[in-house]
Amino acid sequence: MKIIVTGGAGFIGGNFVHYMVNQYPEDMIINLDLLTYAGNLETLKPVENAPNYKFVKGDIADREFIFKLFEEEKPDVVINFAAESHVDRSITDPESFVRTNVMGTTTLLDACRKYGIKRYHQVSTDEVYGDLPLDRPDLFFTEETPLHTSSPYSSSKASADLFVLAYHRTYGLPVTVSRCSNNYGPYHFPEKLIPLIISRALNDEELPVYGKGDNVRDWLYVTDHCKAIDLVVRKGRVGEVYNIGGHNERTNLEVVKTILKALGKPESLIKFVTDRPGHDRRYAIDPTKMETELGWKPEYTFDTGIVKTIEWYLNNKEWWEHIISGEYTKYFENMYGERL
Ligand SMILES: NC(=O)c1ccc[n+]([C@@H]2O[C@H](COP(=O)([O-])OP(=O)(O)OC[C@H]3O[C@@H](n4cnc5c(N)ncnc54)[C@H](O)[C@@H]3O)[C@@H](O)[C@H]2O)c1
Repeated sequence: MKIIVTGGAGFIGGNFVHYMVNQYPEDMIINLDLLTYAGNLETLKPVENAPNYKFVKGDIADREFIFKLFEEEKPDVVINFAAESHVDRSITDPESFVRTNVMGTTTLLDACRKYGIKRYHQVSTDEVYGDLPLDRPDLFFTEETPLHTSSPYSSSKASADLFVLAYHRTYGLPVTVSRCSNNYGPYHFPEKLIPLIISRALNDEELPVYGKGDNVRDWLYVTDHCKAIDLVVRKGRVGEVYNIGGHNERTNLEVVKTILKALGKPESLIKFVTDRPGHDRRYAIDPTKMETELGWKPEYTFDTGIVKTIEWYLNNKEWWEHIISGEYTKYFENMYGERL
């Protein structure tokens, strides 16, 4: 099979490309990524010379480019990870989220319609359900929970999900959607909570925590997410949504304190800062459908996954230091510049 993975130079897409290239040597994995600030080809170093891997630089919202690529490659499967993904950035610049997350998705869907596809998979988020109150630990997001978004980011993702499902209903396109809780693990861009805390704590820098740090997130180790997506693409029913999560709820403050303890750093580094506008209180996934229908179970709990993650950041300082210094943006030029 020929599989186009969009956004494969980002955090989850990068981990997914590693997984697929190693797991399915008979499949061809084409990583299509625009290399925005969040795209980092250094993440793909371990697979860049694999015979079943190819990188293509391009924009999912560029219709002409996407149609030409589909004409040339005739992919069997498209898995769309590409997105503007940072909530804080969506608050300052909502339009770029509409362009990539909504129009990029409809462009890919139109190309799939024109050239035919065995499966289009949309990687979505639990943030499309909005948030849950902190005092109702009995409530969870199921696939039937109404969409009720809070931020421009989650609104753009919810909109994309609706287009994907509409293309199934209207045109019969074979689609699936997965909605996952917060991911963590290797190759996570250091503006997001867990890598930010690890990298700053290692440098004895202040650790910004929004509000009182009592917002709750449901954390999933990234390879558990990758395996779940692979399962949905291969075994999931078309036209269906699957929620992915592992019942690992932690407050942001608990996450920060766990990391500080593991690194032997003092809690005095924590600095509470003004909360994000409209900050979602609690996310919590009910993964029953994934478990009962597809037999999926996460391998890691938060306690085992966070230890592995911290180890990875300690052993791969060069990777995140290049991001903080801006060095990573030169990698594409160094690697591909002369070949273009
Ligand atoms: N990070 C999480 O915890 C989480 C949880 C659930 C769902 N998701 C979803 O998973 C997907 C991947 O998230 P992530 O955290 O890896 O994001 P990321 O920001 O790390 O990576 C996004 C990638 O998309 C690329 N990209 C951006 N705009 C593009 C465009 N117009 N054309 C082609 N490529 C483009 C970027 O260069 C980058 O490599 C997103 O769709 C996100 O909504 C993320």
